[in-house]
Order: sequence, then C-alpha cells, then structure tokens
Amino acid sequence: MELKEQILKILEENRGNSVNGALMAKELHVTRSAIWKNINQLKNEGYQIEAVPNRGYCLKESNDILTNQSISPYLKGKATNFILDVRKTVSSTNTLAKEMAANKAPEGTVLIASEQTNGRGRMGRSFYSPATGLYLSLILRPKLSIEDSLLITTSSAVAVAKAIEKITNEDVHIKWVNDLFMQGKKVCGILTEASLNIENGGLEYAIVGIGINVNTKDFPSDIKDIAGSIFLDKPKNQPITSILAAEVLNNLADSMDKLTSKDYLEEYKKRSFLIGKDIYVLKEKKVFPAKAIGIDNRARLLVEYPDSTKEALTSGEVSI
Ligand code: BTN
Repeated sequence: MELKEQILKILEENRGNSVNGALMAKELHVTRSAIWKNINQLKNEGYQIEAVPNRGYCLKESNDILTNQSISPYLKGKATNFILDVRKTVSSTNTLAKEMAANKAPEGTVLIASEQTNGRGRMGRSFYSPATGLYLSLILRPKLSIEDSLLITTSSAVAVAKAIEKITNEDVHIKWVNDLFMQGKKVCGILTEASLNIENGGLEYAIVGIGINVNTKDFPSDIKDIAGSIFLDKPKNQPITSILAAEVLNNLADSMDKLTSKDYLEEYKKRSFLIGKDIYVLKEKKVFPAKAIGIDNRARLLVEYPDSTKEALTSGEVSI
C-alpha cells in the first residue's frame, strides 16, 4: 500500500477524530513532513481533512469519497465476505472485473469506482459515468445454466431498487429487464456479462455491473430526456454514497443466495411497470408493436402480438 493510502486508512479508522501527525509518522516509519505532504495531496484530491492545532489531522465525518474503509463499516451479513477493490476512476468496472475473473479472482470480488471513462451499457452502447456516480461490478461464480443468467440481472435489479429506495425514500420501478426508474427517469442501469464453461455448459463466471447516477444535474443531449439521477442530500455527518454502496452490496449478497428460489420474482413483478402496457419490441433492427402480458418464472417478458401469437423474451430491447 502506498503511504498516502496507509495514511487514509488510519484517518478513516478514526473518522471524525484527530490523529496526531507525529504518532502517524512513527507508526508508518516516515518523517512528519512526509505525512504532511501526503495529507496535502489527499486534500487536493478532495478529501475533507482538517488540521487541528496541537491535535493532528481529522477526516471529517461528512467526507463522501468512496473508499474500502468508508464502505466496509456498513456491510452486513454475507456482504462482509465481499472483497472490495475501490478506485476513483477506472475505464469500466465491468471490463476490469472481467479481466480479474478470467485471472481467477474469487466470487464476491467487487470493483467499485466513482467515475468511469469508458462505461459500457447493453447492446454495445456506452454508459455515461461522470464523477460522483456509483459504478460497481460484482464477480459471481453461480451454478446456473446460461438460460438462467437472466435471474442474476433481475434479482440484482430488485436488490438495487430496494437499496435506492431505502436511502432516498422515493419509489423505484423496474423496466424489464434491467433499468431502474425514479419519477419517470432512468437512474440506474445493470449490465450482466457471463462467460460460459465449455466443458459443462454452465457459467464460468458472471459479472453484474451496476451504474447509479448520483447527484448528476446535466446529461448529454442524446440521453437527457430519459436519464435521471438520484440526489443524496449533502451529507452532514455520514458518508452517504458509501452507505448507499454498502446497502446495494448487502442486498446483492442476500439476493444471490436466493436466485433459484425465485422469491424475489414476485417483488420484481410488483415493481415492473411494463406489464399490461402496449409496448414496442425491437428485434433484428425491426420494431413490432405488442402488449406486455407478464413475466414468467424465468424472468422472461411475456408479450402478445396483434395476431395473438405470444412470445417469451429473454433479451432485447423494449420500449413504451
Ligand atoms: C445499461 O443501462 O445499458 C446498462 C448500464 C450498466 C452500467 C454499469 S456501470 C458499472 C458497470 N461497468 C460498466 O462499464 N457498465 C456497468
């Protein structure tokens, strides 16, 4: 660990309290001026650190930059076993998580960032990922067939919807298959990418990538009519984005256990706002009008076309 990170770790462990610079220097076997230099670097990066005369340095309780130490205290149950890798800016958490999974990173490894320079969405699209967002990818090694990988996306959607609802007190609805909406705007997208085990036809690994727009006021013109953001009150004495991240992870850990029990599907259906609506199904670059009539127990969207034929959709694009 770099000196800067070691200092941050100590400050995080004492969040809200001052840590004596001389003691820190002794503990880390460096000079006081090295501590001072690194503290200044952290301040320049946006960390809210106060120098308290005669007492040392204090990381303010409201400091809301995502770090391993800011998220971990809020993890509960099985999520405490997750292995967190928290970074400020990455190209794409999914791309990195895929590389890590291919290099045998264990199930439960989570890559978290607050900015992506090459965020990826479904259908080869990009995902706008400015700083202040919450972008994370969880590596799973589930015993599921490729057909059932849809269950990972849908259970994640429920897990994230519940977390956002808890933190913001606002209703969150799901647009099949993976978009979360608040007040009619998409505030979160989920991209599940899986790798097949050729020998047994099951999944080698799956990556659940979740992107939540946090405190984003301006979106690029091509998405500004559909994209929205959750707004977290300026934190007073809590690292609110870290708490949201932990809540998402707590719910994900919980739901990954119950994937095959499919209990969460009832919750998914309740939150789904396509059912009963006239929609358009986009297939092979053609648009077909249809009615969304339900979601089956494999999380497929059931649609009925004007000629009364029915279809269970496993992927693809639908719109209202
Ligand atoms: C979509 O709406 O099409 C899915 C968007 C998924 C975005 C998330 S952000 C974290 C992870 N890393 C990525 O590059 N994509 C996913």
